[in-house]
Amino acid sequence: MALNGMPSAAKRSQPSAAQPAVPPANGAAKEIALEVRNVSKYFPGVKACDCINLTLYKGEVLGLLGENGAGKSTLMNLIYGLYTPDDGDIFVNGQRADIHNPNDAIRLGIGMVHQHFQLVPILSVTENIMLGNETVRGLFLDKRAARKRIIEIAAQYGLDVDPDALIQDLPVGVQQRVEIIKALYRKCDLLILDEPTAVLTPQEAQGLFGIMRALLARGVSIIFISHKLKEVLEICTRVMVLRTGSVVGQADPRDSTEASLAELMVGRQVILQVDKSPAQPGAAILQIRDLVVEDDRRLQAVKHLSLDVCAGEIVGIAGVQGNGQTELIEAITGLRPILGGYIHIAEQERSHATPRTITETGVAHVPEDRQKNGMVAPFPIKDNLVLQTYYLGPFSIGILANDRAIDANATRLVKQYDVRTPGINVPIGKLSGGNQQKVIVAREFSRDLRLLIVAQPTRGLDVGSIEFIHKQIIKMRDAGTAVLLVSAELDEILSLSDRVAVMYGGEILGVLPIAQADRNTIGLMMAGVSDPGAANTQERTLVRDLTDEAQREAAVDTLRAAATDPTRKDKFNG
Ligand SMILES: Nc1ncnc2c1ncn2[C@@H]1O[C@H](COP(=O)(O)OP(=O)(O)OP(=O)(O)O)[C@@H](O)[C@H]1O
Ligand SMILES: [Mg+2]
Repeated sequence: MALNGMPSAAKRSQPSAAQPAVPPANGAAKEIALEVRNVSKYFPGVKACDCINLTLYKGEVLGLLGENGAGKSTLMNLIYGLYTPDDGDIFVNGQRADIHNPNDAIRLGIGMVHQHFQLVPILSVTENIMLGNETVRGLFLDKRAARKRIIEIAAQYGLDVDPDALIQDLPVGVQQRVEIIKALYRKCDLLILDEPTAVLTPQEAQGLFGIMRALLARGVSIIFISHKLKEVLEICTRVMVLRTGSVVGQADPRDSTEASLAELMVGRQVILQVDKSPAQPGAAILQIRDLVVEDDRRLQAVKHLSLDVCAGEIVGIAGVQGNGQTELIEAITGLRPILGGYIHIAEQERSHATPRTITETGVAHVPEDRQKNGMVAPFPIKDNLVLQTYYLGPFSIGILANDRAIDANATRLVKQYDVRTPGINVPIGKLSGGNQQKVIVAREFSRDLRLLIVAQPTRGLDVGSIEFIHKQIIKMRDAGTAVLLVSAELDEILSLSDRVAVMYGGEILGVLPIAQADRNTIGLMMAGVSDPGAANTQERTLVRDLTDEAQREAAVDTLRAAATDPTRKDKFNG
């Protein structure tokens, strides 16, 4: 981690690696939309952005890559006026811009979708979009006009959103659309998307790319941040890479591969494939029988579900988000009451146990929503690392905390998990998104475990960290831990799991050994087809009747892929 110090005069006068900027690869108009010149931003002990130069041309998608903590979000927050640069200048449309707050940025036509959504859960879509940009009629908010404009924008860009729905009732993919409409509502020519696809399914990501293409066609310029290199290669016209606050290179996606981008980011070769031997499963550690769980709206989210996970194996749960996975995990970890059936962990009844009892049974949980369930943002990193163990030895002596043990634990884990921070006393909320995730993973993986439950374990992590976390999960398995993995990344499920359970409508449609779990079969099951081998016209009708858009898209994609598979033509072209 780069520490201390302001830039020397010599450094400031030197052009950075980004100069001169390469024009967009697609030969688009070379007019410059945004220019960042020698911009720096320092936090205590961290050079988050160190003399950065960046040029964004009109009508291009510039991919911004970099390891966790490289300074991507900070740079974007500077452009959006959430932070003020300590040094350097920003030019918009050729004019020097003084951006002191987001209102200044919005006035200049800059819109931003943040890494962590900024929506108010108890307000409606319309109210959220109006926030900070309220139109009034007389003494009252003109909600009707706002609602009308939202419907127009939604129709124009194919963003399907109910303007009256409450944010808290919407799946993340739809919340993402709300964030985008919010940016468009304020008429932006320059859109910053900070890891917009981290929480999206592949189908939802494709939907977002469609929107981005429509925006480009209208002359909007886009900065796109993502750790998913496939996406970067697909959608970006140019790529820029940051490392520890500095620009270290640029790439043309047409001449790049995932491996070459990964190497540019991390500075070494990254193994993108997971290397593992066949599992040696032992006794069942997690036994779920006939489980019934309700969601927040008191609808049955888990319907008479049964599943075993054995010592020494990884069971992956595949499924379109919203099919009961979240409620299932919450029930196992004691965060949600169960209404029927039972859960045994390590041969002990744990159906109605408290989270603490479950933890003490040897269960670790990496939650899907790290900021809600995984950490206490204002607490220092070192305290977040003992959230479940602070009352046990060696971290406590009688009623007193043993600071020395807590510090030593944090120092060791921060090093082992490569958490990029100036120190263990920094509040976890101040870390970059990916580094927050590393702290949570470090804490959960460092106890004596029987059962490891990981939901979206690599969400927001850079390729190097994903490689590391995957290795740790395999290591846990090989040491005899039972692992239950939930991930929206089908690639992650297929590369880590020994068995794949497909969840649909609150039930497990089937459990496949990894050797039989090909993408098409899993995709069909995710769409509710319980016997993919027999998929035919009837199944296609079923898919057409699916009302949930994401599920339908998943199913259609899969059917399309299956239809082009020569070995299955007879079944799909009938
Ligand atoms: N408000 C803040 N106070 C102190 N340090 C901060 C603050 N915001 C960011 N940092 C630090 O600045 C560095 C860059 O963080 P930033 O969030 O820009 O990284 P990033 O490239 O977006 O990473 P990620 O991929 O994990 O989102 C990190 O070391 C982070 O801890
Ligand atoms: Mg970030």
